[in-house]
Amino acid sequence: MSVRRLAPDEVQPSSFSFSPANKDRVDQWIAKYPDGRQASAVIAALWIGQEQEGWVSKAMIEHIAGLLRMPFIRVLEVATFYTMFNLAPVGEFLVQVCTTTPCMLRGSDEVVAACKKHIHPHPHTVSSDGKFSWMEVECLGACVNAPMLQIGSDFYEDLDGPKTEALIEALRRGEVPQPGPQNGRRSSEPLGGATTLLDRAAIIRGPDAAHDRGQAIEGNAKISGEVGTAAPISPGTAR
Ligand code: FES
Repeated sequence: MSVRRLAPDEVQPSSFSFSPANKDRVDQWIAKYPDGRQASAVIAALWIGQEQEGWVSKAMIEHIAGLLRMPFIRVLEVATFYTMFNLAPVGEFLVQVCTTTPCMLRGSDEVVAACKKHIHPHPHTVSSDGKFSWMEVECLGACVNAPMLQIGSDFYEDLDGPKTEALIEALRRGEVPQPGPQNGRRSSEPLGGATTLLDRAAIIRGPDAAHDRGQAIEGNAKISGEVGTAAPISPGTAR
């Protein structure tokens, strides 16, 4: 468990306030809770503040404590407990590299090395052009596409060192690379396409199976005609 402290005084802003639009969002969260329970909106308020500024400053914590009528220490406890809150300035693009076991076994070391080379040798440090910072994070729930990283709300998956370097440089040029797998596969299908559950008719169950099978066979024929191969479908998947 790492120690999480607020950033040094020299980088702390002197004040904080929510933009009018974000203040509306915070008010909506506060309104969800009964009178006297406005403290329940603390995580939402910190998150909205972080979306606005990129990180959580001491001034922001003080502001939210006043807004929610909470002692400063209570808001500080929340901000320092959850690692999703950044306690120091971040780059325009915060690169969160998963280094938990599946990603580590699939080569997250190479992804980290690319970040060290193209962003900064140390995590939590803004690059010289102010555009990037990077950090290691625990599993982001995309292990089937390991190794992966998150930037903003986008996942970039099936990475290696060169792909990560290309991704960072593309963002630096102002391009917006397509999120998702970076090795050409679709979602978490095998490279080259699905190999199972190809027969839609064979996997439909239930009282209307005969009717559904008839429709499915028709549908499969149509799909096959459209894309040249039977489309895969998971049990229970609605189309
Ligand atoms: S271990 Fe990396 S996404 Fe799960």
